[in-house]
This record gives sequence, C-alpha cells and structure tokens, in this order.
Amino acid sequence: MGTQGTKEFYDSEGWHKIETGNTVDGDLFGVKEDGPLRQAMFGRMWRRMRDYVAHEAGGHVLEVGCGGSPEARLLDHFGQYTGSDFSLTGLDVARDRFAAFTDCAEFVEADAVALPFADAQFDTVYSAHMLYHIEDPAAQARAMSEMMRVLRPGGSLILSIANPRPILFPVRAAIRIVAETPVLKTLARRIKGPSPIPYNPQKLRWYQAQCAALSDLQMISGGIASTKFNQSVTELSGVGKAIWTAFDRLDRHAPTAAARMGNYAVIMGRK
Ligand SMILES: C[S@@+](CC[C@H](N)C(=O)[O-])C[C@H]1O[C@@H](n2cnc3c(N)ncnc32)[C@H](O)[C@@H]1O
Repeated sequence: MGTQGTKEFYDSEGWHKIETGNTVDGDLFGVKEDGPLRQAMFGRMWRRMRDYVAHEAGGHVLEVGCGGSPEARLLDHFGQYTGSDFSLTGLDVARDRFAAFTDCAEFVEADAVALPFADAQFDTVYSAHMLYHIEDPAAQARAMSEMMRVLRPGGSLILSIANPRPILFPVRAAIRIVAETPVLKTLARRIKGPSPIPYNPQKLRWYQAQCAALSDLQMISGGIASTKFNQSVTELSGVGKAIWTAFDRLDRHAPTAAARMGNYAVIMGRK
C-alpha cells in the first residue's frame, strides 16, 4: 500500500485552504514566481507531452494522484478523464474544480499501489508529483507497474517526477544526499524534526529502469524552478537569470540533458 502518513497529511491539511486563499499543497509546491523563462519551459514541456500523445486525442486518460489539483489541460486533449487519489479531501476539492465537466470527468478513490481498474482500460495514464510521496521504493515500483497494467497496449504513460540530483540546485542535491545517508539523515531529523510528508524521490535512472518494458521511452525536462522548495536559483535575480537562460537553451536542444540537470523531469513511454 501507499504511505499512510501521506494520506493523513493530505486528508487533514494538504488540501485545506489557508489565509492566502491557496491550499497548503499549493502554498508548498505551487508556482511562486512566474518569469518568461519558466513560462517558456513549462509551455514547451506541455507541447512535448501533447505531441507524444497526439494519436490518443479524444481517448480516455487516467490521472493517478490528482489530489485537489486535477490537471485541467488533459481535458483539452482527451475525451474522457478519470482522476484518482487516496485522499478523500483531495477528491472533494478536485470535484469542485471540475464541476463544469461532470459529463466527461469522474473521480475515484484509489491507492496508486493497487488501482481498482481493469487491465488495459485507459489510453493514457498521467501522474504528476505523486510517486515520490510513497516512502518505500518497492511500493513506488508497484504503483508504476499498476499504471502500466491499466494501460491499453500502445497506450502512453507520462510521469512527472522530481530529480534528486539536480546539478542546477546544488543545495537541494546536498539535502538529498544527506537524506539518503542513514547517519546524516538521523542527525538532520534531530535538528530539523520529521518532515510532514514523506519525500523519497529515486534517481531518474531508477524510474527509467522501472519503465524498461515500455517502448519509445523518452525523458524531458520538467524543470520549473519556482516553488518554495526550489527558490535558490531564481530567474528573477541576475545570476539566476543567466543560469536559467542557459538552461532554457539546453532544454530547447537537449531536453534529456536538461532533465538530468533540473529539479523536475518527465518520463514518457508506450506500452
Ligand atoms: C504533491 S500532490 C500532487 C497533486 C497533483 N498531481 C499536482 O501535480 O498538483 C500529491 C498527491 O498524491 C497523492 N498520493 C500520494 N500517494 C498516493 C497513493 N499511494 N495513492 C494515491 N494517491 C497518492 C496525495 O494524496 C496527493 O493528493
């Protein structure tokens, strides 16, 4: 099963609104600053994903771990949308957000590790920023194989994940190295206290290896440096802008290399 602590956090806090009008999740992970470079990279990432699933236009998409922020862009491309999450609070918020789309969208309570769907039921499976909140890597692997099981042959899997070794974000890379080293991890927890949400991103090559059975495997950058966790290099400062301009160029010509350097990556494959 997925991680109980994640479910408890998202049921009791994560999808609740706070004074800013945002949810706790939105405040932690939402966009904090929106410069032209971030917009350009984000737009490019979406175009690349849309091109990848072009032949599935009008089909049925499953989003795993949609929480209270189901991906509305999926509605532009697919004819039918199913959102799933194990947080009931998240699903309530999601239903409110998609209230105008009840004819083509539904929401289902589901643990990603044991999806309640038939084999080969969906044309595309999409999941963003969910896997690394499952603490146990073996359970992350099970969630990935569940997503592949419910895909029809020829269907596409799209996973948005965090990169634990982002060269562009040395502080974040160092934090991950500490978190993955048992003695240092215990020390850091003593100093900082336990994290409210399990956060255990595996290396990018680990995610790629789990997808080895898929064809046309691609990895592109999802490098958006604007959440509370990723503000050490901001495009709105002098040095940050220079770094992000270089990164933007790299992303245009070599998206896989950019994925390895940035804080987020997208893996796409076909069953
Ligand atoms: C950081 S939020 C991401 C929400 C949304 N996908 C987005 O990108 O904004 C993580 C979501 O994954 C869900 N989640 C984590 N582990 C899960 C699991 N094992 N089964 C189903 N949902 C899970 C949480 O409940 C939460 O709603």
